[in-house]
Order: sequence, then structure tokens, then C-alpha cells
Amino acid sequence: MIFGRIKPLDSILATAEKKSLNRSLGAFQLTMLGIGAVIGTGIFVLTAEAAQKAGPGMMLSFVIAGFVCAVAALCYAEMSAMVPVSGSAYTYSYAVMGELIAWMVGWALILEYAVAAGAVSVGWSGYVVGLIENAFSIDIPDMLVRGPYDGGVVNLPAFGIALLVTWLLVIGTRESAIVNAVLVCVKVAALSLFIVLAVPVMNMDNFTPFMPLGFAGVSAAAASIFFAYVGFDAVSTAAEETKNPQRNMPIGLIGSLGICTVFYILVAAGVIGSVGAQPVSGAGGAALAPGSMELSQQCAAIGDAAVVCSKEALAWTLRSIGWPQIGNLIGLAAGLALPSVILMMMFGQTRIFFVMSRDGLLPQMFSKIHPKFHTPHVVTILTGIFVALFAAFFPVGKLADISNSGTLFAFAAVSIAVLVLRRTDPARRRPFRTPGIAFTAPVAIVGCVYLFWSLGYETKMMFVGWAVIGLLVYFLYSRNHSFVGRGIVDVHEDDADVPPQPVPPLPGAHTPGGNDA
Ligand code: ALA
Repeated sequence: MIFGRIKPLDSILATAEKKSLNRSLGAFQLTMLGIGAVIGTGIFVLTAEAAQKAGPGMMLSFVIAGFVCAVAALCYAEMSAMVPVSGSAYTYSYAVMGELIAWMVGWALILEYAVAAGAVSVGWSGYVVGLIENAFSIDIPDMLVRGPYDGGVVNLPAFGIALLVTWLLVIGTRESAIVNAVLVCVKVAALSLFIVLAVPVMNMDNFTPFMPLGFAGVSAAAASIFFAYVGFDAVSTAAEETKNPQRNMPIGLIGSLGICTVFYILVAAGVIGSVGAQPVSGAGGAALAPGSMELSQQCAAIGDAAVVCSKEALAWTLRSIGWPQIGNLIGLAAGLALPSVILMMMFGQTRIFFVMSRDGLLPQMFSKIHPKFHTPHVVTILTGIFVALFAAFFPVGKLADISNSGTLFAFAAVSIAVLVLRRTDPARRRPFRTPGIAFTAPVAIVGCVYLFWSLGYETKMMFVGWAVIGLLVYFLYSRNHSFVGRGIVDVHEDDADVPPQPVPPLPGAHTPGGNDA
């Protein structure tokens, strides 16, 4: 009966109905939401990692990763429109594939959100340090601004920004639509400026060899650069607040992913064409792994004279082609905009923990609410400490790859769930139906598996290790504490800014509906 514990969909939906449906978002707002959540460290920083893995072929990597995201996004949207409650992929899986799979998805989402927040913190640090060093002509010692794999000891700025965002979340900061719109403009302006300055000075010779490490390199880069698209689930989960979701949801999803893909390809072309993007090789002639000590030593030996060595690829490129002040401006834009991506990721993480805790799968302490700020402060602080530690000691590329492994697992699970539900519950009302589901969902599943497979061996092993720990926690703790397992199927769903009351610890003390916030 391992897969038998299903949380009834009707029970989940009954809660969703309690929420007021204010359908106010149109296609334009959805697209803005998507661009705001998506553009971040991926394009600003990981372009260098992608170049080290694929050379100029990274342009193809952007297309492949964008395509997989688009098909997964369409599946995600059907689920989120049908089950518009918090917990995203975790909740959908609980309703369709049972508690164990849901637990594994929730466990994988910790990688998606918390580790991604760490990656974006490291990306932020690279730009801010570069900006300070170049604008004020000072040299900050590497040992204080890089982790041990990157030729330093501890990345203090990354550690600091993660803690600062944690504090903002504890006191209840949420990004407003206006702030999001402003930051979208900042990011789009920065990328546009980059394209306008870099594309005209492209040298087509820099595009050959196009795939120095073969198609395997392009796949490996696609698996890493997938990170640049993560965050579109922000659009999918807004389905409930969308006017005419059947029309606006695909426009918002495909629109934001399409716009980002075009920007990404033009930025990649600008980097490749203007400064070259061939991988740096070691003494033996083989390309070195991004985020490895060998690469950082080789980069030091060549005086960091290649874009793949840079922690601020776009600013570095502009400085190299004679635009130092604009390079600094790009650094400023990244410094201003990336914290909002960290905030969204950490917020997403606390929301997942929250729902898992209220299902009894994580300790009740996780859904404790601060008396003054009304935020889930315990889980936020816990998440923040882990994010800060990841950020302090690990390189951005490694964190992004680990985050991708969890995200790909969750996206594949959601795509399977959509297919299963079409079969088992075809009559249920679906405000948004994935177009061409018989094609879209299988392609999304195969795409996620392909990208997962293209991640490095170490990353895949880490994912397996994380999954094993997850299974141990489940069988040693969560399975025995699960409310569904104990016959309590009442669902407590709220927006995370209106936190729930703690659920009574004993089944006997619980009366359905009696303790809902
Ligand atoms: N897509 C987001 C970024 O690139 C996570 O930072």
C-alpha cells in the first residue's frame, strides 16, 4: 500500500473554492510576471559556464532548454489551473500519484528553491564584487568573495545577501507588482544594452568551431542553462487569478519563455561573437569542468583572460570591448535585480515546507507563525541559514545544476500527473487544457529525463543521495505523522502571507474544519 495514500482532489478543491477568485491578470501581466521570475543568474552568470561546456554551441543549448521548459510549462499550467492551491507540484502529485511520490517531489523542490536561491546569491556576489572592484579600483581578496572550489575560502557577499533576504522575508516583505515591473524593465534594459553594444562588433570567426565538445557538450550546457528558465512556474501558479486562462495562460507562459529565449540567444551570440567563447583547456588539452579547482587555477594562470573565467560574464564582455562604464552599469542592474529572484525562490521554499508541515509530513514547528510579523519565521530562518551556507561555500554552476536536478524531477512528475488525471478523471473541469496533451506531456517528460541525464555524474549522484535521505526521512518520520495516513483529510490551504494556525498534534484533538485559518 506504499502508493495508496492519496489526498482526495475534491478535498483540496473544496479549500481552493474558499479562496476568493479575483481574476484580474491578463496576458501582458502574466508575461511580465514570467520575465520577472525567469531572468536572473542564468543569463547574467551561467553564460560563462555554458560556454565552458559547449563553446559557441551554447546557443543551441538555450533553444533546447527553452523548448523543454515551454512544454513542461504547458503541462504545469493545466494542473495549476485545475488545482489552484499552494504547494504546486507537491500538492498535484499528492492528489494524483499519492503521498510517497508527493513527498519525493516536495523533497526535490527543496533543491529547486533553496539551492537555486543559493546559486542566485553567488551570481549576485560575482556582479557586485566586480562592480565595486572596477568602479572604485580596489582589489577585494578572492579568499573573502569566492568559495573554496573557486580559489577562495568563503563567499561573504553571497552569504550576506542570503541572510538579508531571509530577514526581509521574516518581517513579511513581498514583492509588489510595481517593484516587479520596475525590475523587469531594469533587467530587460540591461540585456538590451548589452545586445546593442556587443552584436555589432561580432566577429564571425569566433563561431568556429561551433561545437568544440560535440553535441554532448551542447546537451550538458542545456542541462545547466535550464536554470536560466526556472521560475516560470510563477506564471502557472497564477492561473487562478487569470482572466480567460485558456487564452491568456499559454500566451503568458509561451510569451515570457519566448521573449527570454530570444534575449538569451542574442546575448549568447553577443558574448560569443565579441569576445569568443571557446572552452579553457588544461595541460592535457581537455576542457576543464566549470566550477572546478583546476579551471580556477588555469584561469588564474591566464590572468582570467577568457569569458569562461568570469563571474560576471556580461559586464566582463562589455569591459573587454571598450565599454567599462556600461559594464559597471550592467553590474548595477544585476546587483539591483537579482535579490528579487532570491526572494521569490526563498518564498517559494517556505511555502512548500509550510504545506508539507501542515500535511504532517514535516514537524509542526515548521508552520509556526511569528506573533508580530505573521510570517512562518522558523522555517524561513532555517531555510535562510541553509541557503546562506550553500552560497558561502559552493560555486554557482554546481548549485544551479543541483537545483536543476530537483526541478526536472518535479516537472516530469507534474507532466505525468497531468496525463494520468486526463485518463482517470476526464470529466473534471479544466479551466486550462494543455494543447496537444498526447504530444506535449510525453515530450515534456522525455525532455526532462534527457536534460537530467545530461547533468554531470556528480550532480546526478548528489540527487540520488538526496533522494535516499528523503526516503529515510519519509519512512522514519513522515509516514507515521502524515495526516492523510492517520485518516485526516481536511486540507488547510491558505496563501502563505496569511499563515495558518498550527495543526493540533494529536489526531483525536482534530476536528475537520475546526482549526482552519
Ligand atoms: N531563472 C532564474 C535565474 O536565472 C532562476 O536566476
